[in-house]
Amino acid sequence: MAFNPLKEKGMALEKQLRNWHQIVAKPYKKQQVDCYTRTRQILMNGIEVEAWGFKHQFNRFMSNIDSEDKINISRLGRIENQQQMTCNWLCPEDQSVLETTLGYEQVAVDLTAWLSQNEPDKYVKETFDFGLLEDFDHLYRYSQYAYMREGIEPNDIVQGKTDVIIGRPTQHHHNCNGLRLRNHYDKTTASPQTKVNILTVLSGEQQTHNFYAEHGFMYGDHILRETYAEIKDVEEEHVTMYESLIDPNETMLEKLLLHEFTEVCNYYTCLEDEVDDEIKKIWEIFLDIEIGHLQIVSDMFKKYEKRAPEEVIGSEIIIPCRFKSQKTYVQKILEKEVDKRLAPNGKYYNTTDEIPDDWASYKVQEKAFEISAPSENCINIIGFYHDRDMVEADESLKNKEVMLLKKGLQKTAVAKNTVLPDKLENMIKKHEQRKKMKEKII
Ligand SMILES: [Fe+2]
Ligand SMILES: [Fe+2]
Ligand SMILES: [Fe+2]
Ligand SMILES: [Fe+2]
Repeated sequence: MAFNPLKEKGMALEKQLRNWHQIVAKPYKKQQVDCYTRTRQILMNGIEVEAWGFKHQFNRFMSNIDSEDKINISRLGRIENQQQMTCNWLCPEDQSVLETTLGYEQVAVDLTAWLSQNEPDKYVKETFDFGLLEDFDHLYRYSQYAYMREGIEPNDIVQGKTDVIIGRPTQHHHNCNGLRLRNHYDKTTASPQTKVNILTVLSGEQQTHNFYAEHGFMYGDHILRETYAEIKDVEEEHVTMYESLIDPNETMLEKLLLHEFTEVCNYYTCLEDEVDDEIKKIWEIFLDIEIGHLQIVSDMFKKYEKRAPEEVIGSEIIIPCRFKSQKTYVQKILEKEVDKRLAPNGKYYNTTDEIPDDWASYKVQEKAFEISAPSENCINIIGFYHDRDMVEADESLKNKEVMLLKKGLQKTAVAKNTVLPDKLENMIKKHEQRKKMKEKII
């Protein structure tokens, strides 16, 4: 029988306050941490930021609930805030902003790939696959800088579990926000899995946006700062896209219930998968806390809506964040869908060959790249210093890089400083020649 959190008691609210020593736990060591411990830490921070923020929105907008319930919501908000600190501050001081950034994009790639393969709604799955290829390209762009500035090779962070190579070029991720809006699911028929999947990826994307907003300026290199600004803008679109999948007819209490359930499901998965004994203890306590939250909001839901929580969240746990290598799946989507774009009707997709002349995203893209695209400049610069771009991928995929670029580029609204396929091919050839020369000398 699958685990049913509604049948558990969880930790009572009065026991959930922790002291500073417990709140600020010992950080992991960046040289020793398993890359998927880091992705869990990054994701759970995002989940807690959303859980905390939503409670404030709830208390700001909900007028017709009893004051004792409002008080309890505000108490829950403090607990979420404390959990957020614990999760985020597991990150060690010597992990640079760029290293953490590679961790964020690894979360986006491997999480979205997992969700996509475990998503019962075909339309939602297609949206996950679309977003996936954009974060995949972000990982590649940031990897250039991590190497140039700090000598970090992508595998120092992603540990060979995620390929780092060109995806749908970042310069083409900028759209009219209206086109990002998707059809929402129907709350009466959507499976709890769909609801949890969307809220999980949305929380991750929102926090990725916030991280770039708060850290991108910490580098003096102007093109790197511009690259953070450019990719942050895409994460804004990702938040717009994923949140639009949620049924806006859900009541605030329904949403509150879903938030707590999503936290329960994510901690449950973290606890099942964690390899770091110290961090596993944190997931165990936090799962207990979240089951306690779920009990409190389930009681409120029953009191005000006079229906069973099972109608919204079902009666069994969902596994939303099983982190593992997704190379095979991502490669398949990459080769098939790198040329996909948002269709003008805002609900579906087409390919670069099918974009109409009056596509609303052209205006956004042409304005953004009036001077140049930062995400292309980073490839130009690394080519200058190191002959070619930094790529870490399986050989079979590496050999397809020029073909992927050819297929992924649009015909119109291409930035003037774009590294075109011929140039990339020459960069790769030059690199091979230099490698042979070096071997002779040695
Ligand atoms: Fe929480
Ligand atoms: Fe991203
Ligand atoms: Fe993203
Ligand atoms: Fe919670």
